[in-house]
Amino acid sequence: MQTIRTAKAMMAWSSAHHREGVTIGIVPTMGALHAGHRALIRAARLSCDAVVVSLFVNPAQFGPKEDFSRYPRKLKADTALCAKEGVDVLFAPPVGEIYPDGFQTTVSTVKLAHRWEGERRPGHFDGVATVVTKLLTLVRPTAAFFGQKDFQQAVLVKRLVEDLNLGARVIVSPTVREADGLALSSRNVFLTPGQRRAATVLFQALKAGRAAIRAGGRSGANIQQVMRKTLVAEPLASLDYLAVCDPDTLEPLAQIRDRAVLLGAIRIGEIRLIDNLLVTC
Ligand code: PAJ
Repeated sequence: MQTIRTAKAMMAWSSAHHREGVTIGIVPTMGALHAGHRALIRAARLSCDAVVVSLFVNPAQFGPKEDFSRYPRKLKADTALCAKEGVDVLFAPPVGEIYPDGFQTTVSTVKLAHRWEGERRPGHFDGVATVVTKLLTLVRPTAAFFGQKDFQQAVLVKRLVEDLNLGARVIVSPTVREADGLALSSRNVFLTPGQRRAATVLFQALKAGRAAIRAGGRSGANIQQVMRKTLVAEPLASLDYLAVCDPDTLEPLAQIRDRAVLLGAIRIGEIRLIDNLLVTC
């Protein structure tokens, strides 16, 4: 496995591989890799000739009060995991390679960026959209792999790739969970044992919503109420939002027809957790 640190070397690598007609898969990450990231790497490995994993803790997507400096950084373990999974290139640029002096262009997905996560984290999705655009421009992948765990991000990236003709197929892989249902996240390491036990309530709430839909419930407000009831029973968790939405537009659904995504975000102590479930009727 090759580690590349500069934008120039990354572009040279992708040009050389494009000339040879190689299909390239990219898995964009912020590192502290876990089994969720590994599933994306494996999906890329199965369908592409060459796999690039980018590892970049993107300052542009963290708010001023968020955990950029505290975000876990584990380059050594991440490098070992990528090598073991047969990754061809680990692209791990320093901040100045992505945002050199004088950088001032941002990419905004107007509507999608202002709902749910975007409403709570102003600027977050502009940061994501900008860095994903840069990564896809540097690597020019055939396919880009994202996790369903960050549902809104995946929808927004699909929109962005289409709107800007970035030419990659966007593949979304299912959320990888712990045995008790908690979605794997690099931030889970910050939970104390008590908080860790309480954290499963988010998935429980989403599952209660899904069960209510499967039992015939179609009113968005009623399903939301069912999820809320499960959530408030956990004293360590505070509710940020629980919503029943259209999976394409992420607009709230008054009435569920054939498909809905249940989106949830909670806070446990200082830690913010998100999760979702896609339900087909
Ligand atoms: P990061 O949080 O490192 O996640 C990288 C990718 O892994 C994302 O596509 C995310 O949805 C996926 N992922 C995380 N946890 C997962 C899980 N439990 N199961 C399946 N997939 C999971 O998301 C980002 O980084 C950044 O915003 C990024 C896209 C890299 C832009 O900076």
